[in-house]
Amino acid sequence: MSLFGPELETINKVHDESRQGESFAQEEGKRDLPAARRFYIETYGCQMNFSDTEIVASILSSEGFVPTPDFREADLVLINTCSIRENAEQKVRGRLTEFRSIKKRNPEAIVGVLGCMAERLKSKFLEEEKIVDIVVGPDAYRDLGKLITVADEGQKAVNVLLSREETYADINPVRLNSNGVSAFISIMRGCNNMCSFCVVPFTRGRERSRDPHSIIAEAKQLFNEGYREVTLLGQNVDSYLWRNEEGESINFAQLLVLVAQVDPKLRVRFSTSHPKDITDEVLYAMLKYPNICKYIHLPLQSGSSAVLNRMNRTYDREWYKMKVDRIRELIPDCGISTDIITGFCGETEDDHEQTLSMMDYVRYDLAYMFKYSERPGTFAERNFEDDVPDEVKSRRLEEIVELQNKHQFENNRKEVGREYEVLIEGYSKRSKDHLYGRNPQNKVIVFPKEQFEKGDYVKVRVTGYTSATLIGVSTSN
Ligand code: 5AD
Ligand code: SF4
Repeated sequence: MSLFGPELETINKVHDESRQGESFAQEEGKRDLPAARRFYIETYGCQMNFSDTEIVASILSSEGFVPTPDFREADLVLINTCSIRENAEQKVRGRLTEFRSIKKRNPEAIVGVLGCMAERLKSKFLEEEKIVDIVVGPDAYRDLGKLITVADEGQKAVNVLLSREETYADINPVRLNSNGVSAFISIMRGCNNMCSFCVVPFTRGRERSRDPHSIIAEAKQLFNEGYREVTLLGQNVDSYLWRNEEGESINFAQLLVLVAQVDPKLRVRFSTSHPKDITDEVLYAMLKYPNICKYIHLPLQSGSSAVLNRMNRTYDREWYKMKVDRIRELIPDCGISTDIITGFCGETEDDHEQTLSMMDYVRYDLAYMFKYSERPGTFAERNFEDDVPDEVKSRRLEEIVELQNKHQFENNRKEVGREYEVLIEGYSKRSKDHLYGRNPQNKVIVFPKEQFEKGDYVKVRVTGYTSATLIGVSTSN
């Protein structure tokens, strides 16, 4: 018998950087609770880290803490950190310097560092940053209560143990800063890929998949609370694989279908896909279920096979092209975005040209573009020389960014006249007479409010564009 019985149909044969440093808003009504201690948390890094902050908030509320949006009012100040590039770590160091005033005002206050930087630096953090009391790695959040108790007694506390099992499956994330429309669901943790530039396998440990029952229960609960979009999160969602004791298994395509079946009015997105692992089965699931959004984040990293080989990406230029061709063949209107690293060890002008030409080939709808940043302990740091001068990295990055802007502008020009179903996420930043939402391809569309509300689905015809945003008018009555 199938794990999910008849519910699972057989099918035949995809970094919100703008949120960096976001802190939790005050939860209404909890402000005047008498004895509750207050926590403040700030988050850096990827969507996964933001999702972890929601888990931490849940664990803290069960320990009797309530959130505050002002670190000066907090008894517990936490910073959930990222190690992916050196500048991400520098931002955290800068923030810890600003937090020094906390203890002058409130000597009892506890300062904690969570996440990837905590995992990477471990107890060294306590020596380097004197204001830090607790250091907690991504798999040790259940231990927060105990660690805080140790800190309350005036001692420093560290737990950076990585786990092969922890998925926080039973923890109900607290969605404090949410728009009430879209939410993240973490489906797996860790990464087994060992890309030579990447610190993540060292900070987040081995890959493990979360029990699908708890994923579906979370999606159902979100839908019942009024959410209309979930994004399934993992470092490499295509390698999602859950087995029960009888040896039955659920792969990512099957999980996608199960979540899509929660309700046709629940949009399903996912991130991140790996070009070596994304399967036709996933593409067929996207085709079959209109509520699975036609959008894939497919990190390229480099357009040069030689560089991809040194990066240990386990695919080459031709393989990547083949994957893009297949996506376009099956889902011609699929949005495709990417991540690109420029100036990796040994990257020549010719390698760089190959990245530009691959961009010309794919014409991405969105790209996150970075200069290579050497990370301690990675294969690249131990084996290759970070030999591309910084001015060369900067120049190449400028060329990549310029080309991407051109592609986005041209892609958006072609959108004029097309009509899309848009899920409304809120008011436009510029005007209360306008709303904004996304089409299935993940493009932001701004349009006049009329009678529509946040959480509504509305048909919008595109009438204008910039390189970042589409402008439209609703055609729904
Ligand atoms: N330097 C620059 N960019 C990096 N990324 C990962 N590691 C590094 C590094 N050492 C980028 C990759 C990845 C994204 C999340 O961050 O493009 O896909
Ligand atoms: Fe996310 Fe990677 Fe940064 Fe960790 S190091 S927070 S996994 S981007």
